[in-house]
Amino acid sequence: MLFKQQALLRQKLFVLGSLVIGSVLYLVARVGTLDRLQPICPIESRFHPSEQIPLRTLQFKRGLLHELRKGNATKEQIRLHNLVQQLPRAIIIGVRKGGTRALLEMLNLHPAVVKASQEIHFFDNDKNYARGIDWYRGKMPFSLPHQITIEKSPAYFITEEVPERIFKMNSSIKLLIIVREPTTRAVSDYTQVLEGKERKNKTYHKFENLAIDANTCEVNTKYKAVRTSIYTKHLERWLKYFPVEQFHIVDGDRLITDPLPELQLVERFLNLPSRISQYNLYFNATRGFYCLRFNIVFNKCLAGSKGRIHPEVDPSVVTKLQKFFHPFNQKFYQITGRTFNWP
Ligand code: A3P
Repeated sequence: MLFKQQALLRQKLFVLGSLVIGSVLYLVARVGTLDRLQPICPIESRFHPSEQIPLRTLQFKRGLLHELRKGNATKEQIRLHNLVQQLPRAIIIGVRKGGTRALLEMLNLHPAVVKASQEIHFFDNDKNYARGIDWYRGKMPFSLPHQITIEKSPAYFITEEVPERIFKMNSSIKLLIIVREPTTRAVSDYTQVLEGKERKNKTYHKFENLAIDANTCEVNTKYKAVRTSIYTKHLERWLKYFPVEQFHIVDGDRLITDPLPELQLVERFLNLPSRISQYNLYFNATRGFYCLRFNIVFNKCLAGSKGRIHPEVDPSVVTKLQKFFHPFNQKFYQITGRTFNWP
């Protein structure tokens, strides 16, 4: 009896299962036939171009912009989008160790900015300059026509011939100078050279011995790291060619601790809509610096060569240097209209 009931149940289940499978197969076949039988609509009839095409283009462009910001563009993209290599409309001319790399990389977060990744040294290097403007343009990254290219070569700020050469290329170019408290900058400059010597297993002088003249016990103005920090002297040479309005001074110390307000000032100076936001900048406790967030998947910190630990400097030498720079700083504030809390 029990055996009979079980057989009946199995039979019912079989029929039910066959019915379900049959229906599914029928539906699949029907959909397939429908797809095959219906005429393929021309794109225009399925959706209005204004609804769909910009969406696709934007999505694609976001990818393209991202690649451009990373300094990449494929041959196909160059051809498809008429990408161009444009002369810079703004140059970060210095100051060495002021935070020039951080500034360039952070500005590159802006969708309308494309950076020249390498320092090109066109205007300060006679051999490069002799290669001509087309060589310089050829060193520029590909960009969309509405974007602006920015390059940085910190040696421009202190090199005699550069202002005139840049003026000859573009007399209305925008010039960015990023400065730090002059003594800190000089120590940073020294630290970079020291690291280079150490890498080659060479010995090097102490900062104090370079910065102070042993014969006079005064600040050694022949020492390049000291000379570079006399910002006003260099700026005055530039002002023979460009009006002060064409320069924007960036506070390199604030760019370290709170970069966004400094970047917003630069956006305004470059007449760019404000696009860099706090989202794009996050503090990385391990690095001890702000790092860059382009989007949910792509972020980066600057290389380890940025943000070195400085050697301890004799406090009396620090004070001597600060006193030495003080009058030059005052002049710099006066000329630029930007005041810092430097000692
Ligand atoms: P230190 O190495 O003395 O700390 P430049 O790019 O002109 O060579 O400047 C280097 C300096 O940029 C570094 O000097 C560092 O302090 C500063 N800097 C500013 N913002 C930075 C950031 N987000 N990450 C790393 N370094 C940064």
